[in-house]
Amino acid sequence: MTVREKARQVYISSCGVIPGGVNSPVRSFKELNMLPMVVKSGKGDMIWDVDGNPYIDYCMSWGALILGHADDDVVENVYHQLKLGSTFGIMTEVERDMAYMITSIVPGLDKVRFVSSGTEAVMSAIRLSRGFTGKNTIVKFNGNYHGHVDSLLIQSGSSVSLLPESSSLGVPREMVKYTISLPYNDVELVRTVLRQIDDLAAVILEPVAANMGVVPASQEFMQMLREETEKKEALLIFDEVITGFRVGLKGASEIYGVKPDLFCFGKIVGGGLPAAAFGGRSDVMDCLSPLGGVYQAGTLSGNPLAMQAGIVTLTKLQVPSFYSDLETKANILLDPIQQVIEDRGLDVQLQRVGSMFTFFFSPKPIRCKEDLAGVDENKFKMFYEYLFSEGIYMAPSQFESNFVSSSHKIENLVRTRDRILRFFSKM
Ligand SMILES: Cc1ncc(COP(=O)(O)O)c(C=O)c1O
Repeated sequence: MTVREKARQVYISSCGVIPGGVNSPVRSFKELNMLPMVVKSGKGDMIWDVDGNPYIDYCMSWGALILGHADDDVVENVYHQLKLGSTFGIMTEVERDMAYMITSIVPGLDKVRFVSSGTEAVMSAIRLSRGFTGKNTIVKFNGNYHGHVDSLLIQSGSSVSLLPESSSLGVPREMVKYTISLPYNDVELVRTVLRQIDDLAAVILEPVAANMGVVPASQEFMQMLREETEKKEALLIFDEVITGFRVGLKGASEIYGVKPDLFCFGKIVGGGLPAAAFGGRSDVMDCLSPLGGVYQAGTLSGNPLAMQAGIVTLTKLQVPSFYSDLETKANILLDPIQQVIEDRGLDVQLQRVGSMFTFFFSPKPIRCKEDLAGVDENKFKMFYEYLFSEGIYMAPSQFESNFVSSSHKIENLVRTRDRILRFFSKM
């Protein structure tokens, strides 16, 4: 039996001064009715909790750590920068270098601005799309999460998927009156609705939704969105906060062969430090202040520590075998499990894109948020508790993605696979 006494004490005392004890709701393990994970340190594919218990980590700070925890090169470069100063709030060479690096990697990313979180990137891209087009209406999709931007907090994914319709108290109706949320992957319905909107500024989506569990958009859906937004002279925004540099070096846009007008990046782009980015077409980006009239700013934007971490990370991702090695690791973990699910006809859907994966306890595949109504939450809870007790830490919700990193050791992937198969053998 794992002892988690210190974790309990930290949780109880945190609750006295931090709402719910956490700085982001999904960390509370409320859905699972479990004591939250309280972490002390991490290295490579492992984390240790405050009681000293080790866990193989597949949450990886919600996908940010594609190189694993405390990567030696990231640590060394950030430390070097820290000695030079951690923030200046003025131009630096390092932010310019990072901007050249990212724009040279991602086709269609002509210009970029760095911010501190995915939420900020999306919020800025939405404002920019309205400023550029002079129109107001934004279309998003049910079960997609774009951070806690007021105007996008309807029918969201991530832990807000548990909240009713408006997704949050404190968002006046006026803030969402220009937002329309539609079913993901429903080509005909979405096409019909888009054609009826006169005031369409932008369509935003997660090309591979990760915040209702891993649910890829269909190729047809992506192409339809590109065609219809072009006809409407509206912008297509890809929220690649999770998929960017995850599903491949050039992100989901490259995989689908569909180029958006604006991209949002986060997580991996900051190499484990708080950085995110939005960018895309030059003519759109040049509407930002000081060139244009769309205001956007940030004291810590382009923070040199985060830029250093990002540069080191993106440099490592450009090693030619990086993504094929990552895929091989994910295959070692997941291919035999998929085989058992098929052979035994289990009511489990392993949905996966490269190194992102979710186990849905459902008899049929999940293609949209509406399909989630049929998932077995009790079975997931049992699965989760079993893995946790075996020292395997996954995202504490069935409606999130898990991630394999380049730091995952083969023996840990095999150990995880064996434990999952052991659980399935009792189903
Ligand atoms: C697709 C997507 N967009 C935006 C965000 C918001 O990013 P952040 O949590 O850095 O504000 C997230 C967070 O998980 C996300 O998954």
